[in-house]
Amino acid sequence: MKKVKYRHSVARILSLSVSFFLTFNALVYAQDSPLAEDESVVQETVQGAQESNVEAEAGSGDAAAGKEIFNTLCAACHKLDSKSIGPALRGVTETRDTEWLHSWIRNSSALIAQGDEQAVEIYNEYNQVAMPPFPQLSDADIDNILAYVSQPKAVPQAQQAGAEAAGGAASGGGGISTDILLVILAFVLAMLLVILFLVNRTLRRFAAASGVELPVSPKRKPIWKAFVENQFLVLVSAVVLVLIGTYFLYGYFMQVGVDQGYQPIQPIHFSHRIHAGDNQIECKFCHSSARVSKTSGIPSLNVCMNCHKSISEVAPETATDEYSKEFYDGEIAKLYDAVGWDVSQQAYTGETEPVKWIRIHNLPDFAYFNHSQHVEVGGIACQTCHGPVQEMEIMYQNAPLTMGWCVNCHRETNVRTAGNEYYEKVHEELSKKYGVEELTVSQIGGIECGKCHY
Ligand code: HEC
Ligand code: HEC
Ligand code: HEC
Ligand code: HEC
Ligand code: HEC
Ligand code: HEC
Repeated sequence: MKKVKYRHSVARILSLSVSFFLTFNALVYAQDSPLAEDESVVQETVQGAQESNVEAEAGSGDAAAGKEIFNTLCAACHKLDSKSIGPALRGVTETRDTEWLHSWIRNSSALIAQGDEQAVEIYNEYNQVAMPPFPQLSDADIDNILAYVSQPKAVPQAQQAGAEAAGGAASGGGGISTDILLVILAFVLAMLLVILFLVNRTLRRFAAASGVELPVSPKRKPIWKAFVENQFLVLVSAVVLVLIGTYFLYGYFMQVGVDQGYQPIQPIHFSHRIHAGDNQIECKFCHSSARVSKTSGIPSLNVCMNCHKSISEVAPETATDEYSKEFYDGEIAKLYDAVGWDVSQQAYTGETEPVKWIRIHNLPDFAYFNHSQHVEVGGIACQTCHGPVQEMEIMYQNAPLTMGWCVNCHRETNVRTAGNEYYEKVHEELSKKYGVEELTVSQIGGIECGKCHY
């Protein structure tokens, strides 16, 4: 009878812990789904509200078609919610009547020439910058544009995206974060320990109950005593310990002063992926001195403003899971604060404040490195040393920048002698001396200490 009772208790403990584990699991996975549903519901309601609004206000127009025309013809000078070269257009249908808008958009200069009061007024307000005529637009096209610009601003969506950005930054996007996984893992381990302990105890009780004699271990020599008495074992372990220690010590000393992978947070989140990658802006447009001088330099803020006078926000497609459109727009706003640019007035306020970029690549003073020598004369691509810059959301140091790194490349890389008069004679002599066609940098003296150390 007793046996049955004990088997029961083992089975009960096991089934209890398994079911507990399963419910816990289900709980964790369930966390994701209600949230996702909530979001889609919110999104749907927002969109639904938008669409019905549009229909109510602009009657005939098709906002989606209007958006397309707006983006191709008007977006260069107009934004929906802020002044650009021309006025903000959202809600313009409320302040002007439709007929006037039609004739203005088709040919604003004609309207001004006729002396239309409203037309002259806005023309003067915008310093008599003429808006081009658009005779190609049909009435339906213009109705579509007007439908698009009379759409209300989608506030809830924006707020939601902002909240997502805040949440996303902390947890690194969707799914279960590593923290939660770690907690689960720790919990499971703890559970296993408890189960093991309980099973052990039950088995012992079980054994005692059925009268089985558990073997009692005889008095043995403690293991450490046995170890100390075995001189060979002691010697081997000492050697192993010393070897491991030296290995780590060496590794530790070799990484002192090596900042490979260094990735500081810059005062403005400047994405090379967006600039050099997506928009294919040439490196030398910003780092203009790389080709002609020792340093590449960081561009002055005036260079930024060449483009950012008219780019005050990023396109919605630019936003990623990690960084929202609001985040990027906020970073551009930081640029405006630094150069003192007032977006609504489209003018400089004169209040500037330098941006303190944090320097990433930095050789010690006793080493000489020259950019133009490598980029212009050597013909080496920036990416060879700086890595896939066009994919970097945040810049980091790609190469170790150690002496070994410089010297190895000099040993392996050939000098670009073709088409370089200066090298012709050197090449002729040296290639004879070494008996080779191609010369490596080291053969022209690229690993002499004095070339890199003053
Ligand atoms: C080259 C720049 C430019 C382009 C392109 C342009 N506009 Fe304009 N728009 C202006 C300027 C500047 C004004 C202010 C009046 C002026 O100075 O002529 C203006 C004014 C307006 C106004 C009057 C706003 C008000 O508050 O009364 C409307 C409406 C308008 N534009 C619609 C459009 C539409 C629609 C398109 C595209 C089909 C378009 N614009 C393309 C520069 C432009
Ligand atoms: C639109 C301007 C712009 C373009 C185009 C651009 N950069 Fe930059 N770059 C910057 C700015 C601003 C910084 C400083 C902020 C930072 O570190 O992210 C910088 C920093 C760097 C740094 C780190 C400097 C340091 O402190 O050590 C490297 C390396 C670099 N850029 C390489 C490149 C390469 C290679 C390309 C072309 C693929 C490129 N950049 C294109 C503006 C630009
Ligand atoms: C040749 C034009 C050009 C220059 C020069 C330029 N940008 Fe941009 N910038 C852009 C474009 C295009 C975008 C992306 C717009 C989009 O995605 O809709 C952008 C986006 C941005 C953004 C938002 C995305 C991000 O990277 O965080 C910031 C901030 C920014 N630029 C800062 C700068 C700074 C600082 C400089 C000067 C060092 C600079 N830009 C120079 C064209 C330029
Ligand atoms: C042969 C390797 C190599 C190549 C090729 C190279 N760089 Fe560098 N870059 C370096 C090293 C090394 C440093 C650190 C220099 C220092 O601290 O004096 C550096 C530093 C920089 C810096 C920091 C500011 C400065 O001038 O010291 C920028 C920006 C930069 N590089 C951009 C570029 C761009 C843009 C290109 C391509 C036109 C390029 N680099 C090509 C090795 C290279
Ligand atoms: C990706 C390969 C590469 C790397 C990495 C590199 N170099 Fe070079 N280096 C070259 C090439 C190629 C030349 C030859 C340029 C020429 O034709 O004059 C050169 C030339 C030089 C020269 C002139 C040598 C002479 O005899 O005129 C100096 C100095 C130099 N490099 C310094 C450095 C330093 C310092 C570093 C490390 C911080 C470095 N280089 C990293 C490829 C590299
Ligand atoms: C191609 C360029 C180059 C040549 C040639 C070169 N060095 Fe260096 N050396 C460097 C650079 C770059 C550093 C800095 C490395 C760092 O900061 O980790 C350096 C660092 C050093 C250091 C400081 C040790 C350290 O790790 O900080 C010594 C000492 C040194 N070099 C000696 C020499 C001697 C001796 C020679 C000639 C046999 C020589 N170098 C040739 C580029 C060079």
